[in-house]
Amino acid sequence: MGNDDDVKTLREMAGLVTPMALRVAVTLGLPDRLKSDAPVDTLAAELDVNPGALELLLGHLTTLGVVERAGDGYRTTGFGAHLCADAGTGLHNLLHQDTAAGRADLAFVDLAHSIRTGEPAYPLRYGQDFWTDLDEQPRLREAFDRQMTWRIRQRVPKFVEAVDWARFGSIVDVGGGPGDLLAAVLEAHRSMRGHVVDLSVGPARENLARFGDRARATAGSFFDPLPADGDAYLLFDILHDWDDEQAGRILGRCAEAMPDRARLVVIEGIRGVGAATEMDLIMLVHFGGRERSVEELVKLAEPHGLVLAGVTEVPGDHSVLEFRKHPI
Ligand SMILES: C[S@@+](CC[C@H](N)C(=O)[O-])C[C@H]1O[C@@H](n2cnc3c(N)ncnc32)[C@H](O)[C@@H]1O
Repeated sequence: MGNDDDVKTLREMAGLVTPMALRVAVTLGLPDRLKSDAPVDTLAAELDVNPGALELLLGHLTTLGVVERAGDGYRTTGFGAHLCADAGTGLHNLLHQDTAAGRADLAFVDLAHSIRTGEPAYPLRYGQDFWTDLDEQPRLREAFDRQMTWRIRQRVPKFVEAVDWARFGSIVDVGGGPGDLLAAVLEAHRSMRGHVVDLSVGPARENLARFGDRARATAGSFFDPLPADGDAYLLFDILHDWDDEQAGRILGRCAEAMPDRARLVVIEGIRGVGAATEMDLIMLVHFGGRERSVEELVKLAEPHGLVLAGVTEVPGDHSVLEFRKHPI
């Protein structure tokens, strides 16, 4: 006989209904639309959905406290308002099924495929990998870049403090995305230069324009040769997107580009230190990647002549690993 509380908790943990109800509510724009109350029939006509089914969804959202009965319809509660597009919580961009993250999370239906094969489930659902989709669909790319900026918006100062950046005259930000950390480092160190290399560099160019000729962004792949003139090479939340073979190739491209004096700065969530186990599964399902321990990262770097020179834990969930080139 099981403990009833445990059974209830496990059943709640395993439920797919509530996560999907919240995601569909965001995708339909319900929290925004119901800032002013509306009857179900009006709402259903506006959204071109089935009125009876919408009533069921609104009923569950009422149970969750996201909306409440108002007049002859429903309105968004203060709690539900966190889901609105302009709430500044980042939730809308994460849960909407047409954004990069919300769409990718739907691949969790095929988690069993990932566990069986070690492969990402994303391509099984969408026919090609996440980065190719972002390349072909600008709205997904924009949503992903917004998510990247949002995720570190409050933590950037910690990363600026965690590394003695003043040692470096120039930084190559490998897979730098919108370049938010690089911009903060350039702001703090006025003689430093920065160079973002990424598949997509529109947001980085915009972000770095204020630094004039101190900063640039080049569209390119980190599986190809990288600029060879950096004092530091930065990999911020890059390696966990890739399996061991691909992560090793990225490290190899950094090592071959690095002058002997240069350092490689890897900033990642570290397994067993701060990385959430949930993130392990997200990386697996979306990309075929995973969080790694310090030892695993050292082992991946070693064949490329990269030696660990120091580890700094950043309060929160990331660590900074610094590698130097092995003296020949
Ligand atoms: C998780 S994001 C991290 C972005 C940035 N480093 C940050 O921390 O905000 C991963 C980045 O890797 C880039 N990327 C993916 N594949 C790439 C490739 N083959 N070459 C260069 N960049 C790539 C993506 O475009 C994206 O900007």
